[in-house]
Amino acid sequence: MTIASNKNSVKELVSSSVGFKTSDGDGVSMTRLIGTAELNMVDPFLLLDAFGSDEPNDYIGGFPPHPHRGFETVTYLLEGKMRHKDNAGNEGVIESGGVQWMTAGKGIMHSEMPEQENGLLQGFQLWVNLPAANKMTDPAYQEFSASEVPLESWDNGTEIRVVAGTTEKGTTGPVKNDYVSPLFMDVSLATSDPFEQTVNAQDNTFIYVIDGDVEIGTQQQILSAKTLGILNAGEQVLVKAKTDTARFLIVSALPLNEKVARGGPFVMNTQDEVRQAFDDFRNNRF
Ligand code: FE2
Repeated sequence: MTIASNKNSVKELVSSSVGFKTSDGDGVSMTRLIGTAELNMVDPFLLLDAFGSDEPNDYIGGFPPHPHRGFETVTYLLEGKMRHKDNAGNEGVIESGGVQWMTAGKGIMHSEMPEQENGLLQGFQLWVNLPAANKMTDPAYQEFSASEVPLESWDNGTEIRVVAGTTEKGTTGPVKNDYVSPLFMDVSLATSDPFEQTVNAQDNTFIYVIDGDVEIGTQQQILSAKTLGILNAGEQVLVKAKTDTARFLIVSALPLNEKVARGGPFVMNTQDEVRQAFDDFRNNRF
């Protein structure tokens, strides 16, 4: 007897969003794509902000010291320089193509400040939730410069910067996660040849188009520049450029399927835990 089928199911585009313009930190202009009224979360991803401006007034204020508890913050820079500093003793500057991955755990104070006074600052901030069992883990910090983020180059010109996870050809990103293990890749397509990536069938997967237009899945739904696309269940991600070149982020992970209680910089499972976080912060227990 033979097992029927073998063709992996392909993830299709089910919704898209251009987010909304807002500001956070000390007046940093950004587009919030996840963590909005329209798209509260893409479990386990709680927030996605895209920032990008060559106008210093849009970013110079940065994100002065502030606390977090209960999740991880990821900063990925496309252009510019950003300095991270926290009260666990971690400090570092990343430039274009670098990543800062902070596990806030039970509590941390950090600042994220532009390390430039002019020019283009462009990148993303992603919040990755922690499982209930790990929300009160000790804080941790991982930082990788662009040269430490593997670049997989295909003969056809496709380039994949692998921050986390493993590509079909076996390139693995440097970020190691003990809790949620997302796949996080920055893909540049130079031809109409598809990008293909296998993920867990039940992963929640999003694609954010940085430049150009792309076509998703076998239904060939179009996703345009500066737009976030949410994919449905399935094991295979299939993306083609619809313009001469296209660049996008792909981020994917299994959902936690746990209760989420938000309170500003704290994300816990219950409102009581959020109140406790505010109380611990006010009483210098971070
Ligand atoms: Fe922060």
